Amino acid sequence: FHIPQPVNEPVLAYAPGSKERAALEAALKEARSKQVNIPMYIGSRTVETDKKIRLSPPHDHQHVLGYASEGDASHVTEAIEAALAARGAWAALPWSERAAIFLKAADLLSGPYRYKMNAATMLGQSKNAFQAEIDSACELIDFLRFNAAFYQEIMEEQPSSSPGVWNKMEYRPLEGFVFALTPFNFTAIAGNLPASAAMMGNVVVWKPSYTQIYSAQVIMEVFKAAGLPDGVINLIYVDGPTAGDIIFSHPDFAGIHFTGSTGVFQNIWKTIGTNIHKYKSYPRIVGETGGKDFVIAHKSADPKAVAVALVRGAFEFQGQKCSAASRAYIPASLWEDVKKFMLEDLATIKVGPTEDFSNFVNAVIDEKAFDKIDAYIQGAKGAEGVEIIAGGNTDKSKGYFIEPTVILTSDPLYKTMQEEIFGPVLTVYVYEDEKWEETLKLVDSTSPYALTGAIFSTDRYAINQATQALENAAGNFYVNDKPTGAVVGQQPFGGGRASGTNDKAGSKLNLLRWVNARTIKETF
Ligand code: ALA
Repeated sequence: FHIPQPVNEPVLAYAPGSKERAALEAALKEARSKQVNIPMYIGSRTVETDKKIRLSPPHDHQHVLGYASEGDASHVTEAIEAALAARGAWAALPWSERAAIFLKAADLLSGPYRYKMNAATMLGQSKNAFQAEIDSACELIDFLRFNAAFYQEIMEEQPSSSPGVWNKMEYRPLEGFVFALTPFNFTAIAGNLPASAAMMGNVVVWKPSYTQIYSAQVIMEVFKAAGLPDGVINLIYVDGPTAGDIIFSHPDFAGIHFTGSTGVFQNIWKTIGTNIHKYKSYPRIVGETGGKDFVIAHKSADPKAVAVALVRGAFEFQGQKCSAASRAYIPASLWEDVKKFMLEDLATIKVGPTEDFSNFVNAVIDEKAFDKIDAYIQGAKGAEGVEIIAGGNTDKSKGYFIEPTVILTSDPLYKTMQEEIFGPVLTVYVYEDEKWEETLKLVDSTSPYALTGAIFSTDRYAINQATQALENAAGNFYVNDKPTGAVVGQQPFGGGRASGTNDKAGSKLNLLRWVNARTIKETF
């Protein structure tokens, strides 16, 4: 049995008149025409409750896509019990049999489920067709296929033996269950966090963000259709504190695979620390958290390339990417050109619902996010040394719409240069060309995060200087490209400092966190 070397799933263009465009439009119409009832999945059961979570498109919050059944503490306990009951048989399965299930899931997403999956991401999370395609089709498929290939490489990594001594490494699952706590902003991440741990032989309790339940359910449907046995991944919708109380005090808690905010992750880490004596093993703590991602241009940069990177890096998916460009440092000699190209580009961008494929910017995820982002924008209006040079309009009457907004500040430490906003807001600081080295220090020290960052320059010395000076400022560092859009198998993704444990999603580094290796020496 040898898993073929995967290639990245081709991105479909959804051009007007294309077959895929018609299929996606049909899937959107179908999803819009009905209200779904979404159960939890615990062991072999689908569980419904009387307490319902209303699911609506962020760009049309009066429309109801369906209702999910909210669970309580008893469902968390049942999910853990179901996971532990499934553990023995799942862990005993040959590794390739587990990989085969997720490879099958990738094929289903590539084929029959592609449009349903993308439609769910477009409606549930307000991604445009292109952003949905690269997320819930290509990236999720790539995670599943590449992880299976990495698993094979791990299994083949064996220590050397000598005459009379055989050495062997077993990559066994963790002893207990893994908790996958997943975000709204990437369907691919929501799918990958439970799937990668499960593929390595673990059993999982999966709690998605409430704002991603609509597409999470489709992922679960795909896993089930691919043959995932009952109880291996248990999908529950329970509020964070209730779930956390039970999970983090359970003796069989073996690890958490997390993507979300820095604050939540730090609290989880503290709770795990407080409860450390309760666990059978030290839990694996793997988290990808916030970002305040930078773009710095050197005076040798191509201003048009910088402008395109800023618009795409800051405003794709409404800036709701942990990797989104949110602070830019532009030399004075380039600023007029960068600004001109950026404003020209922004003038072509339409804001509106996802179902109109010509809209580049859609709605932010919910009212809480809208209010938080709006407060930063309103605060910038009239603040000293601060000017809004593009966008600035917001409207939540029908959907949570925020115009792509560019703030220019003369203070490099203005709060929108430092704090994560998680919305379509970019702040620009213009530095004097000769202050290049000081500005590199500023980039490194302005925020506690270190997820992504980009340097634009045509000067190799400058590129090298920035690469050295910013060595700890970004886990994913881009030269002459936007700081978003890491591709599985090409740019393993993750950051350090306050941005996470840097266990690189879509790599062997990540998968190795989900194994409990046993070394066996036999003499004979
Ligand atoms: N992996 C995503 C990106 O690179 C977050 O944009």
